[in-house]
Amino acid sequence: MKRSLPSCLLTLLCAMAAFGAHASDAAKATPKGDAARGQAVASTVCVACHGPDGNSPLAVNPKLAGQHPDYLLKQMKNFKAADGKQPERVNAIMNGMIAAYDEGQMRDLSAYFASQVQKGETAKNRETIELGQKLYRAGDMSKGLPACAACHGPAGAGIPAQYPRIGGQFPEYMEAQMKSFRDGGRANDPNKMMRMVALKMTDAEIKAVADYVAGLR
Ligand code: HEC
Ligand code: HEC
Repeated sequence: MKRSLPSCLLTLLCAMAAFGAHASDAAKATPKGDAARGQAVASTVCVACHGPDGNSPLAVNPKLAGQHPDYLLKQMKNFKAADGKQPERVNAIMNGMIAAYDEGQMRDLSAYFASQVQKGETAKNRETIELGQKLYRAGDMSKGLPACAACHGPAGAGIPAQYPRIGGQFPEYMEAQMKSFRDGGRANDPNKMMRMVALKMTDAEIKAVADYVAGLR
């Protein structure tokens, strides 16, 4: 019982920060994309790796179906190199794939994938499910690790606009991203939010939480 108050407070603070960010994003509202136009590109280009509806067949290619449109748009912009500079999110495949599209087309693509229904994965590792659940829901106060749920929501659905849906995502992809945040290979998270989290985690903890999150709905 001793731990429940501080972790509860942390959850509350994070949730408040998230709603604050949401409000200011809404203030500078931007035009919504056109899902039908997005589908035209998605079904001819993105389909090769992300499937026709964003439910990618292979775990190296993340699921895009049902993801928040603002998060999708941010990632596409981060993958695109601006004025000869290094892109904010480095991945040879996506840096190349997104180069041809302008912001309007990225908005259309985001609207399309966000409107699709994600087909979730399942947790597979019985031995680590308890650890994964504990880390997800409560974090680990002894090393200052916040609960994932504080930012990604109790069921992994994320909190628009900043915090992505992670429930149902491929565990292999999530594990790779968390390790990449930890070693600084991925550094496009606002205020180093994910880098601070991943730095405090061991390989075994990352694997356990990724497996647990895959089965969240
Ligand atoms: C040749 C395979 C391939 C194609 C085609 C492709 N992608 Fe990707 N995509 C990837 C891979 C691999 C990643 C994961 C990159 C990483 O590990 O950082 C990714 C990641 C993404 C992400 C980030 C998702 C997240 O959860 O952070 C978005 C958004 C995305 N792709 C959009 C698109 C769009 C839109 C198209 C079509 C214009 C497209 N992709 C075409 C392979 C592909
Ligand atoms: C303080 C808030 C916060 C906490 C706590 C947090 N995250 Fe995140 N997470 C974020 C943000 C923000 C992003 C998106 C970064 C970006 O814009 O690229 C993210 C992205 C991710 C991604 C990449 C998603 C994708 O589609 O590429 C994964 C995986 C992830 N988080 C897992 C976790 C796990 C597991 C935990 C708990 C151990 C956790 N996060 C705790 C804020 C947080």
